[in-house]
Amino acid sequence: MFISTRSPLVPVVALGLAAAIFAVDALTPLDVAIAVLYVAVVLLSVAVWPRRGVIAVTGLCIALTLIAYGMSHGFAQNDAALARCLVSLAAIAITGFLALKGQAAALALLEREEALNQARGQLAHASRVSTLGELAASIAHEVNQPLAAIETHGEACLRWMNRPEPDLGEVRTAVQAMQRDARRASEVIRRIRGMASQSAPAFIALDVNEVVAESCDLLRRELQRHGAGLKLDLQSDLPAVKADKIQLQQVIINLVMNAAQAMAGAGARERRIEVRSFVDRGGDGQNGQHADAPAVVVEIADSGPGFAPDDLKRLFDAFFTTKQDGMGMGLPICRSIIESHGGAIRAWNRAPQGAAMAFRIPVAASAVELPA
Ligand SMILES: Nc1ncnc2c1ncn2[C@@H]1O[C@H](COP(=O)(O)OP(=O)(O)OP(=O)(O)O)[C@@H](O)[C@H]1O
Ligand SMILES: [Mg+2]
Repeated sequence: MFISTRSPLVPVVALGLAAAIFAVDALTPLDVAIAVLYVAVVLLSVAVWPRRGVIAVTGLCIALTLIAYGMSHGFAQNDAALARCLVSLAAIAITGFLALKGQAAALALLEREEALNQARGQLAHASRVSTLGELAASIAHEVNQPLAAIETHGEACLRWMNRPEPDLGEVRTAVQAMQRDARRASEVIRRIRGMASQSAPAFIALDVNEVVAESCDLLRRELQRHGAGLKLDLQSDLPAVKADKIQLQQVIINLVMNAAQAMAGAGARERRIEVRSFVDRGGDGQNGQHADAPAVVVEIADSGPGFAPDDLKRLFDAFFTTKQDGMGMGLPICRSIIESHGGAIRAWNRAPQGAAMAFRIPVAASAVELPA
């Protein structure tokens, strides 16, 4: 039977084993260094107890070895038995020492990994806030539009009420429109607050299409500014993926902004961005299929200049940029986000022209039901 190291059975097994070794060592006339087996108890203790626990278990094993020696040999002179006892004590002490060192190294590694994750999160957050700064004009417009509409509906509402015979039907329609616009404005603000917040990632089941649509909503004005048209081609009934919504938004916004900037930067005459979503069912690695698990793929393609062949290899390197005011952190951050979701991201040139980037995120285990 396989016992996981986190299993509550481990302490029971460790203590049971220690008791069994002690019983054999103290109560049977076997002339073998049975106490050496205490090293197994010490090794088991590392998996479940912290430093102090391991020291206590090592001390206990040493004490049991000495007690068993005293019980079975007393003060009688027996060099062979004494040598066996000393070998066992040395084995237990060395194992305890090495186990503690190993445990400390593993803990340090975990701490470093945690610090790295934290730093990654902070970097992603800083980049999000900087993107929001770039989008400020676009966002202001997105909020302003429904506010202006509310004002217009409010004026209409007053006019209908100020009539000698107020038309309550029209008043109701205008108030409903005001409610709708107010909801739209607060929705935009909610999304921006989400992007600006620095909360720990929350991996929940998400509809990628919704995230794509919301991200593109925030970019609408920015794309107009760059003279770029946007077409969404989203496969309906996508299975859910387990992802952090804000981080996924950040990736989509980065990729669409890159496409718009590349086309504007190159002065492309035709500026088209196409965002596609679909399911990649993965494969078993046979017949030329790749062996990936089923995934939702989002592809962002543009009609810009594409990537220079040499740049393709460096796109995801930190600080690689061909823009005068670029930081070169957009794509490395996208990759780290997608990889933290168990996915992958790649870039290629389209024929006859344009760049394309796609990322894939594995379908959530509970949603492997794929559309036919
Ligand atoms: N759609 C695209 N078409 C052509 N080149 C692209 C495209 N997307 C990215 N690139 C190239 O990849 C480089 C790196 O992109 P990345 O997003 O990492 O940094 P950046 O956009 O230069 O700066 P920032 O950190 O502000 O995003 C860009 O400078 C550009 O040369
Ligand atoms: Mg960028």
